[in-house]
Amino acid sequence: MDTLILLQSATGNTALVTEYAAMRIRAGGHACRVLDIASDQSIDLHSWGAEQPRLLGVACPTQYFRPPFAMERAVARLPDQDPPVPAFLLATAAGEPGAHFAMLARQLEAKGYQAVGAHWVCAPSDWPPHRIACLPAQPIAAAGRAVASRWPGMRLLLSLIWPDVTEPNSGDRDALDRFVDRVLDHAQHGRPAPAPESLYRPFVPGTYQMGLAMQAWQARKATAIRIDPDRCTRCGLCVKVCPVDALAWPDESQPPVPGEACTGCWACYHRCASRAISGWFSPAQLGRYRGPSRHMRSLFGRGVRST
Ligand SMILES: Cc1cc2nc3c(=O)[nH]c(=O)nc-3n(C[C@H](O)[C@H](O)[C@H](O)COP(=O)(O)O)c2cc1C
Repeated sequence: MDTLILLQSATGNTALVTEYAAMRIRAGGHACRVLDIASDQSIDLHSWGAEQPRLLGVACPTQYFRPPFAMERAVARLPDQDPPVPAFLLATAAGEPGAHFAMLARQLEAKGYQAVGAHWVCAPSDWPPHRIACLPAQPIAAAGRAVASRWPGMRLLLSLIWPDVTEPNSGDRDALDRFVDRVLDHAQHGRPAPAPESLYRPFVPGTYQMGLAMQAWQARKATAIRIDPDRCTRCGLCVKVCPVDALAWPDESQPPVPGEACTGCWACYHRCASRAISGWFSPAQLGRYRGPSRHMRSLFGRGVRST
């Protein structure tokens, strides 16, 4: 099976989990490429593996109880398929994906891709206002983490006060292994896909409706980034990491200029090395997520066990 995974990851959680899933797919004897929609435009999707059975993956964080707007735009550019191509949806989220899977599955269905499965891995929140308005990471978070690993059902509640207690553990990695195996089995045997709404039932009431209702301009307003010209080193990284090309840079001696296309993903804020970017409720020094911890990296970065 020729597998292509579309990836978006603002701060690295989804990238880590996706690379792990890709390794497991390869370990099962299948080709698998990961295409980062923010930086890698090299694969010609129209000529993707037309001769052999294909499997599409769509991997991204949940943002505002829905998939990132940038991923929706990438999916809109996929070539239409007939007969249908099986697909799987992979997400990381801090506690509640809401309408994420149903929205993507419906969009894919309209283009001839059938979502045969969806899975999310719980990961620390990288939403800056959340990280500021939470309890300090140490020392009490250790207690939160112990509770979270003993009773995973408590993670959602705990994540509201300690964003880092939603770090995944070995049980989450095992669940991802099982998901990948199930998807491969499903796709190889051509089993019928479930209805988009039945891929995932939201746990928190109202989040499905909130995800459906969220508009890009509302997300942009929630972020409203500013770039401090004194701190900005003109490195251009923010321009590169923006998945929707929302930062213009007409004069390289001046900071880039945020534009109306912004969809509020905060990638530029997190990745700016000189901390020149601030946003609504989040001054430049605060609320940054440094990316997956060493523990998370060792969990998902060490290669896969055999299938
Ligand atoms: C703008 C924004 C909105 C978010 N909204 C949600 C949400 O609705 N539900 C949730 O569980 N997590 C939410 N998160 C947390 C991310 O989904 C989570 O931290 C994810 O692992 C980040 O993945 P990445 O490192 O690949 O970007 C949000 C994060 C950001 C930056």
